Amino acid sequence: MHIGTTITQFIIEEQRHIQGASGDFTSLLNDIVTACKVISRSVNQGALIGVLGTAGTENVQGETQKKLDIITNEVMIKSNEWAGHCAAMASEEMDEIYPIPANYPKGKYLLIFDPLDGSSNIDVNISVGTIFSILRCPDGVKEPTEKDFLQPGTKQVCAGFALYGPSTMMVLTTGNGVNGFTLDTSVGEFVLTHPNMKVPADTREFAINASNMRFWEAPVKRYVDECLAGKTGPRKQDFNMRWVASMVAEVYRILTRGGIFMYPRDTKDPGKPGKLRLLYEANPMSFIVEQAGGASYTGEERIMDMQPQNLHQRVPVILGSKNEVEKVVAYHKGA
Ligand code: AHG
Repeated sequence: MHIGTTITQFIIEEQRHIQGASGDFTSLLNDIVTACKVISRSVNQGALIGVLGTAGTENVQGETQKKLDIITNEVMIKSNEWAGHCAAMASEEMDEIYPIPANYPKGKYLLIFDPLDGSSNIDVNISVGTIFSILRCPDGVKEPTEKDFLQPGTKQVCAGFALYGPSTMMVLTTGNGVNGFTLDTSVGEFVLTHPNMKVPADTREFAINASNMRFWEAPVKRYVDECLAGKTGPRKQDFNMRWVASMVAEVYRILTRGGIFMYPRDTKDPGKPGKLRLLYEANPMSFIVEQAGGASYTGEERIMDMQPQNLHQRVPVILGSKNEVEKVVAYHKGA
């Protein structure tokens, strides 16, 4: 019995439409998919294999690392360093970029990832995920450095995320729409279940960490106040609210039923312009959301147009249903 279109078949069929494609990109994606299956197994087995809890170390952001942050980072590195598709990698969990070791061939892509997004949710058994972004290594660069990774989001060749939830899902874009695949654990394959995902332009659902309300800037406060006022307020309709504290889960929800997600700039820590990281959270999610017909801004500017300044740069993120995101942007512009 045929199980449907597997992710491998889907990627190979996409490759056939690209003239001169060497198959390198297809192989790289396959290695990422394999890594995500391995991570899915570890996340799923959790306490049975002793991987829950903290590792007792901090990453470059000063965040306490979970055991699974370190394990999943290692899985991504080991799965993607050997095949000759990557020139270098970078991760939320590593201060510096990771050059491909000298004993392996180097390829033409730069891979950037957050190996386990939402890892504060692991011990409470709420969905987490892996986010990745693929860039081309600039022409002629044999030994990439951090500056080669500092490309605007518009230069991404591919972005995707795996979601380890009730089902394990993989969501992908190569700039030609967004497709979702569900892991069939009985055969170990991701199968196309959500072709051509679209974010509805309108929504009545918003997601924001309301415990930061006193630190928000006026445009975000105004937007949320108007949603909370419901039918009796200026929006003349009731809104629903969600906050999972896993961006992967929030973006997946937005891809399936619309919504707006905000982690805005606030005054909590003036040294941090937002919480989320540009290169391995905001840019890949912006690419996916835009490809599905949504929008993604800092409040003032389109995230994918930003020129990154450093590897672990943070940015405010407001993404999701187009008309709502545009409303928040208009409030930032003083409308
Ligand atoms: P991390 O990858 O370090 O676990 O970050 C999780 C992110 C993101 O997924 C989520 O939307 C946000 O942090 C949650 O932040 P709060 O805990 O401040 O709500």
